[in-house]
Amino acid sequence: MYADLTGKVAVVTGSSKGIGQAVAARFGQEKMKVVINYHSDPAGAEKTAAAVVANGGQAVTVQADIATEAGAELLLATALTNFNDLDVWVNNAGMEIKSPTHELSQADWHKMITIDLDGVFYGSQVALAYFEKQHKPGNIINMSSVHEEIPWPTFAGYAAAKGGVKMFTKTIAMEYAKDNIRVNGIGPGAINTPINAKKFADKAQYDRTVSMVPMNRIGTPEEVAAGAAWLASQESSYVTGITLFIDGGMTLYPAFKDGQG
Ligand code: BGC
Repeated sequence: MYADLTGKVAVVTGSSKGIGQAVAARFGQEKMKVVINYHSDPAGAEKTAAAVVANGGQAVTVQADIATEAGAELLLATALTNFNDLDVWVNNAGMEIKSPTHELSQADWHKMITIDLDGVFYGSQVALAYFEKQHKPGNIINMSSVHEEIPWPTFAGYAAAKGGVKMFTKTIAMEYAKDNIRVNGIGPGAINTPINAKKFADKAQYDRTVSMVPMNRIGTPEEVAAGAAWLASQESSYVTGITLFIDGGMTLYPAFKDGQG
């Protein structure tokens, strides 16, 4: 628990499930006021809200398409109307589409770039504008991936978007550091979430993914949420522009683990 987070207001995009849901629930534990955003799963968002409240926080749910400027503005307005302020903005919503790149449709390419990269821009811009206008310190956390670093054949749109998120994060971290606005990324590895449900239901694929993790296991959404709470808190007060990889060592070149090379 981070005492300085008590009463702070957070927006978490894409928090009706998966990592976003765990981040919101953890913020509840930190006694924060959380705007829970969903796109098409109101029941999931209600579940998140119940978890936030059960953990001691406050919650409001809102449908919004984060891949639009209007969606981002609605999230800020929801925070201000319900909780009178904004302290932490988590750009979490994301999606991935698998396809050999030469067969990837332009529509699917644009979908990934729009949700995974444009969405981070819209959310960050709205949050930055608010922090600047209020002359207050601020905190932005962008949910990236190990694939901002690790190439991922047949997921080129996703990897391209996450590579973009990495450089966008670093750039705005530098741009706004003078105003005490911190911007960091989180790079989850293989985590037990709905995005991976189909893949992990297949034992062979599950085992293969585990074999790519030096710690030999899949991570939990709560382990990612713990990183978000730390980055949101003053315990990380001198940290900006990083990607905090929460990946059991997946980014450590696991193919070399036996000392071969
Ligand atoms: C993807 C997962 C994948 C993991 C490790 C994440 O960014 O969303 O589907 O299992 O990276 O490859």
